[in-house]
Amino acid sequence: MFRALLLDRPDGKFEAKIVTLDDSALPEGDVTVAVSYSSLNYKDGLAIADKGKIVRSFPMVPGVDWAGTVESSASPAFKPGDKVLLTGWGVGETYWGGMAEKARAKAEWLLKLPPGTDEKWAMTMGTAGLTAMMSVHALEANGVRREKEVLVTGAAGGVGTVAVALLAKLGHKVVASTGRKELEPYLKKLGAHTVIDRAELSKMPRPLESERWAGAIDTVGSTILANVLASTARRGTVVVCGLAAGPDLPTTVMPFILRGVRLIGIDSSQCPLPERDERWRKLAALLPDGLPGEAVEMCGLGDLPKLAEAIVAGKVRGRTIVDVRK
Ligand SMILES: NC(=O)c1ccc[n+]([C@@H]2O[C@H](COP(=O)([O-])OP(=O)(O)OC[C@H]3O[C@@H](n4cnc5c(N)ncnc54)[C@H](OP(=O)(O)O)[C@@H]3O)[C@@H](O)[C@H]2O)c1
Repeated sequence: MFRALLLDRPDGKFEAKIVTLDDSALPEGDVTVAVSYSSLNYKDGLAIADKGKIVRSFPMVPGVDWAGTVESSASPAFKPGDKVLLTGWGVGETYWGGMAEKARAKAEWLLKLPPGTDEKWAMTMGTAGLTAMMSVHALEANGVRREKEVLVTGAAGGVGTVAVALLAKLGHKVVASTGRKELEPYLKKLGAHTVIDRAELSKMPRPLESERWAGAIDTVGSTILANVLASTARRGTVVVCGLAAGPDLPTTVMPFILRGVRLIGIDSSQCPLPERDERWRKLAALLPDGLPGEAVEMCGLGDLPKLAEAIVAGKVRGRTIVDVRK
């Protein structure tokens, strides 16, 4: 028997409740895992708050990531006792996810934890950490140099927090954009050089503004991303991974054809396993101790409905780790 947060729609009315299930309820899959921790990501917030049509079939255990210990495996790639992590691949959307004491998944979705890390570290990073690492990698692979200013939008959120910490660790001059200017000390502690108010990037964008950013990681989309593109320097690179402000992009071709700006998309969910493994190892090498205490909040399954509303409203700071045994 195991506890789970279960989302369901009996008689068409949405509900999110903690239930106790028998192992026979677990979905098909070749590896069964005792989950230690999951984490709360924006997508989980949408799913648990019943916003944004994230869940494709009910009943569903939400949680787009989890880490734990293999209990049984029909795959030779894993054996009982292995410490593993999973992010993306549609778990918590079309396939039962991590907000439960047990999970079952396909072996080809799993990674062993990077050497020297544990399950709690893995979920301090989670999907947000992998996404931030992929974004930072894309900036550096496209030649963004370390002495120039690099912008991170939605900086106090999960992806933003890890991105600021990673860029600072690599020696970049990080400008953090936030709607919560009171979090300036938090962002500076993570390594931001300068903190700007997101209002500066929220006006109706002109096709081009004066050149400022050598590179940018955008977690919010919409008007802010259009402003970021307009003020990105010649041959600069903008990486987009999120839509917290909206999925639209009211821009023109000008930044691309007059300044050679590159716009790169990140999809961590379907990232191929070898690339995933490499990014996780780099993440562990750069942030072996995780994040500062201020950037991490612990919660239990029962706290999730309230926290889901908060993350969708942009009120959660940093990363929230879910101890599924609580
Ligand atoms: N592409 C991928 O593979 C991938 C993976 C993970 C996440 N994502 C996406 O990345 C985004 C961030 O995810 P997350 O888990 O880091 O979420 P999060 O913790 O909620 O962070 C989002 C941040 O965006 C800012 N924000 C919120 N609402 C906004 C608004 N209306 N206008 C402007 N800024 C706003 C806030 O930061 P400030 O208060 O600092 O402004 C907020 O903390 C989400 O859209 C998520 O779906 C994509």
